Amino acid sequence: MASPPKELGVGELAERAGVAVSALHFYEAKGLIHSVRSSGNQRRYARSVLRRLAVIKVAQRVGLPLAAIAQALDALPSGRTPTVADWRRLSASWKQELEERIQTLTQLRDQLDGCIGCGCLSLKACPLRNAQDTLAQEGAGPHFESR
Ligand code: FES
Repeated sequence: MASPPKELGVGELAERAGVAVSALHFYEAKGLIHSVRSSGNQRRYARSVLRRLAVIKVAQRVGLPLAAIAQALDALPSGRTPTVADWRRLSASWKQELEERIQTLTQLRDQLDGCIGCGCLSLKACPLRNAQDTLAQEGAGPHFESR
């Protein structure tokens, strides 16, 4: 039986990864994946790019921006494709980020509950208008002129 080719063309990679060719070009432009050029000047991808694409797709589902994904992949030694151990570490750190976002969104949802039917949009009273509690940082006492 013949061994599979070492490198994949863009169409084959797209099909195997379940990713549009345009997405591959986009990821490459963003530095997330890399190709070499064949003698006919066609893009050729190492088979390991399939695993890299799987990581990229999962990271996107988690909601990570491309810049953060690129940073995580760049941090791997020699820009290698994530190993099983790399993936364990990356997925654990991304889970933590996801937990933090869930916490933030839950808090926002709960605060929004107080706004429903209110309509004040007051810097003083509405927690969503004064999310950082900036008035408290200005110290105690009145901060508003009455009109
Ligand atoms: S609009 Fe009144 S509390 Fe947010």
